[in-house]
Amino acid sequence: MQKMTVSLVPSGLTSGASTLRGRNFLEVTDFTAGELERLLQLSQYLKVQGRGEQRTLLRDRTLAMLFEKPSLRTRVSFEVAMTQLGGDVLFAQGAEFMVGTRETPEDAARVLSRYVDAIVVRTHAHEPLQRFAHAATVPVVNALSARAHPCQALSDMLTLRERFGGIAGLRVAYIGDARNNVATSFAEAAVLLGATVQFGCPPTHRPSESYLAKLDALGSRSGGSARAFTNAVRAVRGVDVVYTDVWTSMGEERYRERNDAMLRPYAVTEELFGYAQESAVFMHCLPAHRGEETVAGVIDGPRSIVFDQAENRMHAQKALLVGLLTELKGLPV
Ligand code: CP
Repeated sequence: MQKMTVSLVPSGLTSGASTLRGRNFLEVTDFTAGELERLLQLSQYLKVQGRGEQRTLLRDRTLAMLFEKPSLRTRVSFEVAMTQLGGDVLFAQGAEFMVGTRETPEDAARVLSRYVDAIVVRTHAHEPLQRFAHAATVPVVNALSARAHPCQALSDMLTLRERFGGIAGLRVAYIGDARNNVATSFAEAAVLLGATVQFGCPPTHRPSESYLAKLDALGSRSGGSARAFTNAVRAVRGVDVVYTDVWTSMGEERYRERNDAMLRPYAVTEELFGYAQESAVFMHCLPAHRGEETVAGVIDGPRSIVFDQAENRMHAQKALLVGLLTELKGLPV
């Protein structure tokens, strides 16, 4: 499939925009649709820009990465992004850093803010992360909490923008656990940017009516909206994109048996994927379990864009770091 050409400088986004400098990114909704669009525009620019031209953008800046849970993509993509932008990274995991365990989230945040220029946190509960971010005096980025995975959503939107030329008007199906952190952040970004999200999930994993109404409200200016179907075929029929994720998120392992039983009918098989448009693409944030939420014939097939998503984590996070730490001088946004 040919990628569509994407303009690096969409009109109407270059003037009068608010700055991202110094802000936190804990959830997609911390940024407006216009700010997300500018970040995607900058991500695309940095993706095609020569690496040598980026080497001084974050010179002398230090990023702390504090992870309570395992990671491949998030950790490596942030580390490589920061390094290519000329900055330094320090990484702490497990017992070295657990939000609110050895000291209050506020004390840890105040101390770290004296040492580093930005902090990326992967944690279990969302509420201590909010306390941490509130007390920090440098930008704090959520690298996955129980509630949200906004960096994954940025990469997902960049990947869709590359593939389709834009997000507005797309119909996307999210199949499986429609209440997990990836689903939540993906849906919020998609409706903000004008897509229709169709969840396919059992009642046990269905977003609440009030959350669906919140998504509709988020999409009200861009034409985005959300609905949920118990029937997976109804959710997938005619869509441009089918997205799924593991049935049991990190930290939720006690529900694995129940999730396996409830979500089995929602596996994205070749048959289910066949109800989408012939041109539809398959997305997954990875890591994936072939034979569970999807099958090799789909995720390893020609319409899978999962490795573009994984690569774009790095480009989107470069843009995020540059946006949070600079005034974007000399950059086309
Ligand atoms: N998609 C994602 O966040 O991957 P990691 O858990 O490997 O960071």
